[in-house]
Amino acid sequence: MKTMMLKVNPEKPDLNKIQIAAARIKKGGLVAFPTETVYGLGADALNPVAVTALFEAKKRPLDNPPIVHVASVKEIDLLVEEVPQKAQLLMKKFWPGPLTLIFKRSINVPSLTVAGLDTIAIRIPNHRVALALIRQSQRPIAAPSANLAGKPSPTTAQHVYEDLNGRIDAIIDGGATRIGVESTVVDFSVDPPMLLRPGGTPIEELRKCLSNLDLHPFVRAEQELPLHQIRSPGMKHRHYAPRAELILVEGTVEAVVGEIKRLSDSYRDKGFKVGILATDQTQANYEYHVVQSLGSRFNLASIAQNLFRLIREVDSLGVDVIIAEGVPSEGLGLAVMNRLRKASGYKIVKAK
Ligand code: TXA
Ligand code: MG
Repeated sequence: MKTMMLKVNPEKPDLNKIQIAAARIKKGGLVAFPTETVYGLGADALNPVAVTALFEAKKRPLDNPPIVHVASVKEIDLLVEEVPQKAQLLMKKFWPGPLTLIFKRSINVPSLTVAGLDTIAIRIPNHRVALALIRQSQRPIAAPSANLAGKPSPTTAQHVYEDLNGRIDAIIDGGATRIGVESTVVDFSVDPPMLLRPGGTPIEELRKCLSNLDLHPFVRAEQELPLHQIRSPGMKHRHYAPRAELILVEGTVEAVVGEIKRLSDSYRDKGFKVGILATDQTQANYEYHVVQSLGSRFNLASIAQNLFRLIREVDSLGVDVIIAEGVPSEGLGLAVMNRLRKASGYKIVKAK
């Protein structure tokens, strides 16, 4: 299959190009598009054939359902059984935005779209291109992140191209995404509601509206969870993994820098090529190695924005080992740490 590249201005997307993409969605095709978090790979959520193709293109396990994207709150009536009062509060405050909510699903939704579950994950993205595509398609759009399963999520059209060229109909190129990590997922099919995945909407913001929000243990997990604790299909699959081995070093800044120097030198002495994901404040400490700064420790949003791109970039330099600095688990830092821990396969070193 030939994959079309449709370049648009993210602020003022060319309607002609959006219509070309929407026509593909309506015919059951697959179109990658930018959202404010990461690029999504879209298919008509109500068309089981299209959703099957979506899983195939990504090589995604069939038991892991995508998020369904809509352009306005009234479109979710068709998809859900009911919306709890507390969820309405969050929808008013955070939609459109990087927040996905899980509800009991309605019978209108094909079972394939929700991987056989009785719940559905929904969000309204805060991005002109995504919203225009949903509106022009006149359908809810099922869209997981537009990477091959297991790879870091794509934050540029180029990343999508690297993973999915020849496997999908089109990629709408609207430039780099603003937030860089995926949406926060909150499950409202249980009471009290439970946060299943930290993401672009910080938990501190959610708790201002929802004091009894539970945190699933997976969110801060430092090792793989036993199967019986899994609440979201995505929790049991390998994620964000670069080709090289990734090691995460956590602790105070001084301890982290010391440990990374020691580790990276010992790898180099053994003949391994090392890539280091550092921060603006620490990168000067690491000579003789490939070093990239994720951003400033005083601006965790910048680190979130760069994270997946830099994992891909360092990996593509042919390093054998990537060593990443841990950052504080507050604000967007919680999502960053959750992704880094998963990317490392829980190879975590506690620096002292
Ligand atoms: O920011 C985002 O959320 C991006 C953009 C494209 O919107 N999408 C994204 O989708 O990250 P995906 O499919 O890569 O991640 C969706 C997560 C998975 O961990 C999946 O297991 C979980 O949401 N999920 C989907 N439906 C669910 C359900 N009914 N119950 C529990 N978890 C669910
Ligand atoms: Mg994903």
